[in-house]
Amino acid sequence: MHGDAAPLFFYSDLFLRHPETRDLFPVSMAAQRDRLVHALARVVSGAGHLDGLTGYLQDLGREHRKFGAIAEYYPYVGASLVATLAYFNGPAWTPELAGDWSAAYGRVAEVMIEAAAEDAGRGPACWEATVIAHERRRFDIATFRVAITEPMPYLPGQSVSMESPERPRIWRFYSMANAPRDDLTMDFHVRMIDGGTLSMVLTRSLAVGSRLRIGAPVGTLTYDTGSGRDVLLVAGSTGLAPLKAIAEQISRLAGPPRVHLLFGARTADGLYDLADLEKMAAGCPWLTVVPAVSHEAGFPGERGMLHEVLARSGNWREHDVYACGPTPMVEATVNQLTALGVPQDQIHVEDFGWSEP
Ligand SMILES: Cc1cc2nc3c(=O)[nH]c(=O)nc-3n(C[C@H](O)[C@H](O)[C@H](O)COP(=O)(O)OP(=O)(O)OC[C@H]3O[C@@H](n4cnc5c(N)ncnc54)[C@H](O)[C@@H]3O)c2cc1C
Ligand code: HEM
Repeated sequence: MHGDAAPLFFYSDLFLRHPETRDLFPVSMAAQRDRLVHALARVVSGAGHLDGLTGYLQDLGREHRKFGAIAEYYPYVGASLVATLAYFNGPAWTPELAGDWSAAYGRVAEVMIEAAAEDAGRGPACWEATVIAHERRRFDIATFRVAITEPMPYLPGQSVSMESPERPRIWRFYSMANAPRDDLTMDFHVRMIDGGTLSMVLTRSLAVGSRLRIGAPVGTLTYDTGSGRDVLLVAGSTGLAPLKAIAEQISRLAGPPRVHLLFGARTADGLYDLADLEKMAAGCPWLTVVPAVSHEAGFPGERGMLHEVLARSGNWREHDVYACGPTPMVEATVNQLTALGVPQDQIHVEDFGWSEP
């Protein structure tokens, strides 16, 4: 939507008319200024098919509680969106279009506000977490454990957004790497992204005692307990986190299906959690762990990209497949599975939104 100019127009319109909303956003608006604006345009233009969007919008509404986005602010955002569209569409903008967009925005906002209100009756807007263990597995990959003080019901495979006091109001999603525990602790695996605002803090400067804030759990990469099919898990780098949580969930079942876990990295030192996985597999006869490396000639195990390895290591048509990791890996995996004849409704993915350096 008109590059950087539209977000600039949108935010200046919003902040000038309603200065109280400025405090909800990061101190520096320079990076990713377009996060909300592009999402708004995308979501509202899809509001004609609200059925398919409802679950996502409910998650989004719950998620927005932690930003401090109270119901009163929703019309403000809608008015600034319509003002932005009017400005950039010039004479092509008509009162009918304005009416349609306002109505569509209103429908989307209603679902979000309602979900947020229901959620407010159930739990906090965000959870205070304390880091109780932090381990750097490679200079750019860390695993850490946090303890929260109030229960957070979530499904294995889901994610939460996280904020550090070192980067106020910068929220990013990370997946729980374990099935829920009674002691209210949760594990995370984070890979540092080049120039990454929050991943740098989480991998390099977090320590035992550090505090974090955590938003409501979201996401649909969750295990289909009713299918009865065997399972293929395809994990690229820290994409392992949600899949490890699913494997842990399966380990608690009375009659677990067979699970084949492909864990891939460029080099062997990127297989940062292999020792733990192998320990888990040693106690679970239904679990097979296959490490794969794409860019290291001397690696003794499987070599190649994950989609290549999976293509030669089995017939997955009767499996439920869960794949997670960097964008190119997820895309290649889905394309490969489709080409191999795995039905779309058996393929479940979470795309972390970054590429490997
Ligand atoms: C549902 C979900 C769950 C996630 N779970 C995890 C997890 O468990 N572990 C984990 O390590 N990560 C996870 N991520 C990714 C994580 O949310 C952050 O996106 C990542 O850590 C980068 O955030 P940052 O603030 O460090 O980087 P940012 O400051 O947001 O951006 C860093 C740099 O990357 C660039 N960039 C942005 N997008 C791309 C791209 N597609 N390709 C290349 N460069 C890009 C930006 O321009 C910028 O220069 C998850 C993402 C989602 C959506
Ligand atoms: C229909 C209405 C809205 C939709 C569809 C919407 C959608 C989104 C989406 C998809 C994101 C990015 C999520 C993320 O990266 O975590 C986002 C971020 C955000 N939204 Fe909304 N939003 C809406 C209304 C509002 C309102 C009313 C407010 C409060 C003024 C608000 C405040 C924020 C803030 C503070 C962020 C984080 C921005 C950042 O990190 O730069 N949103 N919104």
